[in-house]
Amino acid sequence: MARATALRVPVRHRWHGGGYVIDVTSRIAVCPGSFDPVTHGHLDVVRRAATLYDEVIVAVGINASKSALLQADERVRLFEQAVAEMANVRVERMDGLLVDLCREHGADVIVKGLRGGADFDDEHPMAAMNRHLSGVETVFLIPDATVAHISSSMVKDVARYGGDITDLVPAPVADVVYRAFGTHPPKEAEA
Ligand code: PNS
Repeated sequence: MARATALRVPVRHRWHGGGYVIDVTSRIAVCPGSFDPVTHGHLDVVRRAATLYDEVIVAVGINASKSALLQADERVRLFEQAVAEMANVRVERMDGLLVDLCREHGADVIVKGLRGGADFDDEHPMAAMNRHLSGVETVFLIPDATVAHISSSMVKDVARYGGDITDLVPAPVADVVYRAFGTHPPKEAEA
């Protein structure tokens, strides 16, 4: 079995008597996804991860089996805006393998949201492959019930036909998604 090399990466130093010692209790988690676009569901999971780990890196990547509505840099920008108030969260664009990004940043865990059985079926093979490749474990968090029905694909489907996505995603995200489809929120949502 591959070893979790990330666990050996010094992530923080503190002064201890005669010299610096490595504080191995500092934990970095990576929250990966395509985030096309980021939703309140994603933000709920990132917020939970930020309470469990010292640092959270949101990795905005490419899912080879999906075609994206928004460019990667746009997805990164929107996520950065959405987590601007979360002090221990930062956003990175991911162009390669997730395990390489974890290794590069000394992350020892991947965190993903799990809304239900369909998510589990998708996530299980990815978690197993990532552990096979690197030894990095995946931890699953369940989102709050109030956002558990939200998915990026449904947000896009609703916006495509001019439905109301304003309470499913942050306001700047809604603007960008409507613009991408050339649609508008219903009149009552704009008020
Ligand atoms: O939000 P998604 O679409 O479920 O995110 C999937 C994503 C982007 C996290 C996944 O496709 C990924 O990790 N892509 C990077 C390439 C990689 O590492 N592939 C092997 C993972 S099994």
